[in-house]
Amino acid sequence: MRNIVLFGPPGAGKGTQSEFLVNHYGLVHLSTGDVFRFNIKNGTELGKLAQSYMDQGKLVPDEVTISMLKEEVEKSAEAKGFIFDGFPRTTSQAEALDSFLNERGDCIEAMVALEVPENELTTRLLARAATSGRADDADPEVIQNRIDIYNAETAPVAEFYKRAGKYKAINGLGTIKDITERLVSAIDV
Ligand code: AP5
Ligand code: MG
Repeated sequence: MRNIVLFGPPGAGKGTQSEFLVNHYGLVHLSTGDVFRFNIKNGTELGKLAQSYMDQGKLVPDEVTISMLKEEVEKSAEAKGFIFDGFPRTTSQAEALDSFLNERGDCIEAMVALEVPENELTTRLLARAATSGRADDADPEVIQNRIDIYNAETAPVAEFYKRAGKYKAINGLGTIKDITERLVSAIDV
């Protein structure tokens, strides 16, 4: 299996780049944010629980997120591997992912991290608010909260992969195509 973590702050381009990477490598895209939004749309219990956190830009509790992630991985039994987008977001999630994959005889090959300055993130998300229908894009305070939580709780997850020699930083500014090429070069090393 070929498992890649696509990492970066809110609005860094994880979803955008995932589309290209899944086609290029033939992997399954697993965005925890997308799975939560699907559950919200369908009015499931998981969706109801997740919405209260997401609307405020807070993280959904680890226990809930980890068990959902495992279920999603198990649904794709035939996958050649995954692009994990928006997961892991805490060190506990990274540890849980590692042991879950190890039990299956798998591991994370690399974490590729999109680096984008904060003012650009805010500009992108506010622009997207016009079309995304996402409550967490519409309010500048919620966007700031997402960025603050990223800095406090998610950015430290990079250390976990740096220690394992699996971390690669990518400049996330430029055209979408240029950034895809940078990601592919980093993954193919
Ligand atoms: P999630 O859905 O993961 O959102 P996010 O990380 O906040 O980031 P986005 O999806 O908004 O941004 P992105 O990096 O995918 O960028 P995109 O490609 O869309 O999570 C949402 C919420 O769910 C969380 O806040 C939390 O509540 C919950 N959640 C999810 N996972 C969780 C977890 N593991 N644990 C706990 N809670 C969890 O691009 C953004 C915009 O920029 C787009 O409009 C795009 O067109 C544009 N853009 C992309 N690339 C470029 C470029 N190169 N130049 C200019 N514009 C660009
Ligand atoms: Mg996304």
